[in-house]
Amino acid sequence: MTASEPELDPAERLDLDGLRALQLERLRATLRHAYENVPFYRAAFDAAGLRPEDCRALDDLARFPFTTKADLRDNYPFGMFAVDRTHVRRIHASSGTTGRPTVVGYTEHDLDVWADTMARSIRAAGGRPGHIVHVAYGYGLFTGGLGAHYGAERLGCTVVPASGGMTARQVQLIQDFHPEVIMVTPSYMLTLLDEFERQGVDPRSTSLQVGIFGAEPWTEQMRREIEERFALDAVDIYGLSEVMGPGVAQECVETKDGLHLWEDHFYPEVVDPLTGDVLPEGEQGELVFTSLSKEAMPVIRYRTRDLTRLLPGTARPSFRRMEKITGRSDDMVILRGVNLFPTQIEEIVLRTPGVAPHFQLRLTREGRLDALTVRAEARAEASPEQRAEAARAIAAAVKDGVGVTVGVQIVDPETLERSVGKLRRIVDERPR
Ligand code: DLL
Repeated sequence: MTASEPELDPAERLDLDGLRALQLERLRATLRHAYENVPFYRAAFDAAGLRPEDCRALDDLARFPFTTKADLRDNYPFGMFAVDRTHVRRIHASSGTTGRPTVVGYTEHDLDVWADTMARSIRAAGGRPGHIVHVAYGYGLFTGGLGAHYGAERLGCTVVPASGGMTARQVQLIQDFHPEVIMVTPSYMLTLLDEFERQGVDPRSTSLQVGIFGAEPWTEQMRREIEERFALDAVDIYGLSEVMGPGVAQECVETKDGLHLWEDHFYPEVVDPLTGDVLPEGEQGELVFTSLSKEAMPVIRYRTRDLTRLLPGTARPSFRRMEKITGRSDDMVILRGVNLFPTQIEEIVLRTPGVAPHFQLRLTREGRLDALTVRAEARAEASPEQRAEAARAIAAAVKDGVGVTVGVQIVDPETLERSVGKLRRIVDERPR
């Protein structure tokens, strides 16, 4: 590290009792705030026969009703706000694949907390005051760009607000400005990798020391690929607009063992996706969040649809970790009764010789059955025999590891769609 070692936040030094006490106090205030100011929450609590005061311990939260993305859509655009609109300083929205976007709002104080938690995340990733941070998350309604931006400024870094796209120029900027840190989706990092090579620049020769990658699932294999090709430390950042944006959880560079949840502001639960029952630490299920300090748009037990499990803290002992996300329940493909996530295919494709780290999953229907074809790109130097061997190896590994038969096509280099932000892995060509 080049710059000075900054102190941890006071919250990061809380012991477990201190953290739990702070959470309970904030949780009770949040439930009150939501009940008193958002008709949706008042109606939901009333229907469940609950008052905010019924939450006397953190475990009591499990009695309160869930909130879903559909609830937010139904209250489009500003119906979930708990403060007068004139106190809302900023709006973000997530596009979603269907229908209306989900709108979120932030007060001045919310933006302040967000910048603080993002600054904490960048520091945990290895960023330091004085570093140059290249932000290639998209700026705009998406929370990635502006979230990263204000966090890096808060930490005392110099921000390059590159946003997504104009890939050739991104490479130029990295060459000229010498950033230590890059913040970008892992799939767009691969697009940048291609561009470095096209320009004849060795990606290992850049000034980059740390990459903070998130907004989409990525695997340990992808971490190894990126770290190896760029000679940097790759760490995972998680967040979602409904809860805040990036910086809800962050992997620490010294351990790279899952993401510490910034629990002083975002209270996590993992529930059984079918029954909604809270699962014990260590069990895999759907991640659910309750905000603990948000003013403009508190969320109570928001169902993320992201699948993971909670683990005890390590590098920040009081904060629990979440395991790297396996996938969203929305991205799960059910093929002849077998559940399959794109991350499982990523693990296999990335360890297969002769293929590049670019792949797509094509879903079609054959008769009455769904079929899946993995399309993976050959590496430029792969011979026809190596390509054929790679196709066999991928099909066999999917059959062995996932337990289902898929087709595999090895396509020519540079033929699959490249990411400029969040990559769409699944191309669904089934008839509606
Ligand atoms: O993607 C916020 C973000 C921006 C996070 C930049 C990290 C970096 P949304 O557009 O609302 O917000 O999408 C949220 O993206 O529910 C997950 O399904 C997925 N996601 C976000 N981070 C990760 C990650 C931003 N590290 C949705 N691993 C979430 C896997 C992630 N999935």
